[in-house]
Amino acid sequence: MTLDLKVDGQSEERAEAFAQGLLGTALDRPDGVLKVTGAAVYAADDVPEGCAYGMLVRAPGFGAIEVGNADEVRAMPGVLAVIRDKRMVRNAAQGTANAAPVQGVDSADYVGQPVALVVAESFEAARHAAQALQLRTDGGPLPVNPGDVETEGEPDTTGDLDAAMAEAPHRLDVTYTTPSMTSAPMEPHAAVAWWEGDALTVRSALQMLKYNRNELADSLGIDPAKVRLLAPYVGGGFGSKLGIAAEAVAAAIAAQDLGRPVRVVQHRRQVFETVTRRSETRQRLRLAADRTGKLSGIGQEAWVSNLPGEVFQEPVTQATAFAYGAVHRVIGERLERLHRPAAGSVRAPGEAVGVTILECAMDELANDIGIDPVELRLRNIPDTDPEGGIPFSSHMLAEALKTGARRFGWSDRAPKPRARREGEWWIGTGMSAAFRVNVMMEAEARIALSPEGAVVETDMTDIGTGTYAILTQIAGEALGLPAEKVEVRLGDTTYPPGSGSGGSWGAATTGNAVWLAAQEIRAELARRMECGEGELTLKDGTATCGNRRVALADLLDGATLEGHGHIEAGDAFSKVRQSTFGAHFAEVAVNDVTGEVRVRRMSGTFAAGRILNEKTARSQCHGGLTWGIGMALTEGMVHDRRDGHIVNRDLAEYHMAVNADVPPLDVHFLEERDPWAGPLMSKGIGELGICGAAAAVLNAIHHACGVRVRDLPATPDRVL
Ligand code: MOS
Repeated sequence: MTLDLKVDGQSEERAEAFAQGLLGTALDRPDGVLKVTGAAVYAADDVPEGCAYGMLVRAPGFGAIEVGNADEVRAMPGVLAVIRDKRMVRNAAQGTANAAPVQGVDSADYVGQPVALVVAESFEAARHAAQALQLRTDGGPLPVNPGDVETEGEPDTTGDLDAAMAEAPHRLDVTYTTPSMTSAPMEPHAAVAWWEGDALTVRSALQMLKYNRNELADSLGIDPAKVRLLAPYVGGGFGSKLGIAAEAVAAAIAAQDLGRPVRVVQHRRQVFETVTRRSETRQRLRLAADRTGKLSGIGQEAWVSNLPGEVFQEPVTQATAFAYGAVHRVIGERLERLHRPAAGSVRAPGEAVGVTILECAMDELANDIGIDPVELRLRNIPDTDPEGGIPFSSHMLAEALKTGARRFGWSDRAPKPRARREGEWWIGTGMSAAFRVNVMMEAEARIALSPEGAVVETDMTDIGTGTYAILTQIAGEALGLPAEKVEVRLGDTTYPPGSGSGGSWGAATTGNAVWLAAQEIRAELARRMECGEGELTLKDGTATCGNRRVALADLLDGATLEGHGHIEAGDAFSKVRQSTFGAHFAEVAVNDVTGEVRVRRMSGTFAAGRILNEKTARSQCHGGLTWGIGMALTEGMVHDRRDGHIVNRDLAEYHMAVNADVPPLDVHFLEERDPWAGPLMSKGIGELGICGAAAAVLNAIHHACGVRVRDLPATPDRVL
């Protein structure tokens, strides 16, 4: 049996089942000790008997590929094969597309594209041989720079923004740019593949197993039922592992050719160019406002890029569509087909850079009008979704702004820039609103309840986000079991298909499937207790109904009870606009002599429905604020203007914010239940923290020293 739920409206409050007191607490990760002691098996840790080692080789240019010395390389010590196979893939695909990524290695579409695999008896031999392989390409030059090609697509237009701009007493028309960015998960991409007959098993670093299985089967031309994927532990994804990448397909092909297991691990420089980047953007922001700051017009037009054939386009403006009310609107993207490495989802695709620049523009407008930036936002919160006219499922922006301002001490702020100096440092503060769409996917989960406790199974992943902890809490809460009586098993396609991790939907979506599976078990326990489900209380391994209390083990009578849950998004996601909201505040010091910027304190207040685990949710937001600091001050991939290749493709030259860059971060959650978001009433928190975070820092730079940096990141040369 399965308890199915299509979320079509508001869910009923189900607080009666909340007796265990586990959900929402800051439960430590049950997998934490395994991870820090090295016992957790990540993709590259699994070296099966007889495993050979593959190393990917990159295209040095564009066009048809010729191998100059394949025979020589094949004859090198330990080398088993030099593989070029049309089934190899060009890049990581977008998992949700559920189809194979662009394939074929006859010709290179970007510099750095993986086009061959060298396999050897040892990793060292494979690496040496891969370096010795001479590849020639005969193509190019191809367009690689923004502005070099015609654009595809047009923004959506409502009303007459030009007229609104002409009439408005206050108007802003500015252009910002953001560079390509990388996801840089701590665990590099890796895959180990082996075949048993026509059945393939791949242990890999992936976010979305149920989709990845189909993508891999598609790429290889085999039946998905013959593919088993394993990814119980994943060291970060941030979008880069949403789709299968080159190493998984290459390892599968090589393992089949050689008749033995093959492991392929990308080194850091390969990760930088073979997995999808966040597109660079150019964004024109237009705002028209009356004397009180009320917006009559809003324009956000973004230019983004991707390779020919790719379906992904950075959805820069997806939150702008509902962020602020204004009658006259031009909002959307234009795409340029450039032969840079493929673009795809990177943590909060769209809002991460779109909300950031919108919020920089709002700061400029507030400054021009001379009203407080928090007040400007408050005056422009729409009553309903300005585009669809539909209501919001909940709207917590005003509360986030007010609470955040209070926590930060915003009211002490000098109204004008360049008001505070300490020695050679200008001190300033800035703020930003945060928005991130809320999404629900389809997910299934199974729970087996036995006298020993509950075992939860789903092919959902934990990419560092805390899935093991959260699903433990949900099952424990619903079944009245302490955390140590719940075992969660993830990351294996033999389990029921979960939602995968992406788009902030993982915990809430798969969590709801686990919740439903538990409800099915509860219904059976109530039947055995001869009591209504509403009267049944499950707590600490006992069932209570009226004045009767029975141990679960006795109710089970030595047998196992199974529950199966299935959830999918229905009309609740089109009848109402669902979003999460927040507010960022930052204080920076800008050195008047060097242009160096230090973030001195930062605060984020967030609303995302029910917070399922205080600690893991907080960690996600710490990550978001940290990423915001990097985006504002240091991060950016440099593309060679001649051939588009990524010049700074390592962590020494691509500067992410590190501990020394990050002050103590204040993260606060607002108490909220969103009844439109499913029975748990919880929305995605994962990516909210990055949305707009960089704007708070950039706006603080302006408040400190009066300099408006419109080309990110705000490196010292741009601040001075
Ligand atoms: Mo996320 S960038 O959708 O993994």
